[in-house]
Amino acid sequence: MLFMETIPNTPYALCGKSGLYLPKISLGLWHNFGHVDDFAVAEKTLLTAFEHGITHFDLANNYGPPPGSAEENFGKMLRGALAGKRDEIIVSSKAGHRMWDGPYGDGTSRKNLIASCDQSLRRTGLEYFDIFYAHRYDGITPVEETANALSALVHAGKALYVGLSKFPPEQARIACEILRENKTPCLIFQDRYSLFERGVEAEKLATAEANGAGFIAFSPLAQGLLTDKYLNGIPENSRAAKASGFLQREQITEAKVEAARRLNTLARSRGESLACMAIAWLLKNPRVTSVLLGASSPEQLTENLKALRSLDFSDEERAAIGFAI
Ligand SMILES: NC(=O)c1ccc[n+]([C@@H]2O[C@H](COP(=O)([O-])OP(=O)(O)OC[C@H]3O[C@@H](n4cnc5c(N)ncnc54)[C@H](OP(=O)(O)O)[C@@H]3O)[C@@H](O)[C@H]2O)c1
Repeated sequence: MLFMETIPNTPYALCGKSGLYLPKISLGLWHNFGHVDDFAVAEKTLLTAFEHGITHFDLANNYGPPPGSAEENFGKMLRGALAGKRDEIIVSSKAGHRMWDGPYGDGTSRKNLIASCDQSLRRTGLEYFDIFYAHRYDGITPVEETANALSALVHAGKALYVGLSKFPPEQARIACEILRENKTPCLIFQDRYSLFERGVEAEKLATAEANGAGFIAFSPLAQGLLTDKYLNGIPENSRAAKASGFLQREQITEAKVEAARRLNTLARSRGESLACMAIAWLLKNPRVTSVLLGASSPEQLTENLKALRSLDFSDEERAAIGFAI
């Protein structure tokens, strides 16, 4: 029997048909880990995550700002707070969005993916990534080229597993088939999924499952909208208030805030925060391997981890949530 199988209610789940366990809650470094951010807070957040069993950290070449700085800072933390822990963690990175000037610094061509992976390895100081993703389907590069480039990274020892982020279902299916033929099966799909963004329920979750891949949900709190943060305005220092944040003030609409207020009331009646209910609601779906959180402080993370205590929803609660969104 494997070690994990001996622990009841383990906070880890097998990723698709692989032998890799991922924590049900993972930490993403898109925001809060760049050179513009406070390094000490970022390092404490990462260490707090690790100490609470979050063993998976998600990067991309362009995370910062400036682009690349989240990988540089993560490398520094690996040599600092996480020194000696390389084999206890899963590190992912990605390429596919604009990263450097000229025609080769963007998209999912073989040229971009392989050059970018080399750059990311140098920035982090890693010898290999546990998971390397094509960050998006670029609409131009043939899927065959992208999938074969991902396989080449595995065969070259630069990645252990590969994944697909934001691929439309048809392109994802083709990529999975090629990756299987190349003996580098797709480990995981990464896509936006939250109570406010449910597009993956139509086809993507089923496509991942049919291809033996796991699924990791990014922006599970809709960048903070599914917390109590914006219920009474836009606080200073929140993502929506920061110049470097990807959440725009215009996205905090009255309709969204009203829905968040309704959901907040339901969450309180369950005895938990809105953030925890939003996370638990995703994790109750057996097709979701992991929920990929962001956090601007260790306290947010420890609060959100309480979601693992309340994964059950009654039929009434499910229906009420459906009405509230
Ligand atoms: N593949 C892709 O294309 C893609 C795209 C986007 C994201 N991702 C991945 O997904 C990860 C997570 O994305 P995300 O950061 O948008 O996730 P998120 O979990 O939806 O949002 C995280 C933000 O919500 C706020 N928050 C979290 N817990 C809170 C709490 N308890 N109370 C109040 N506010 C709270 C914080 O914002 P404040 O700064 O306001 O405190 C935090 O930074 C990224 O780091 C990245 O790894 C991937």
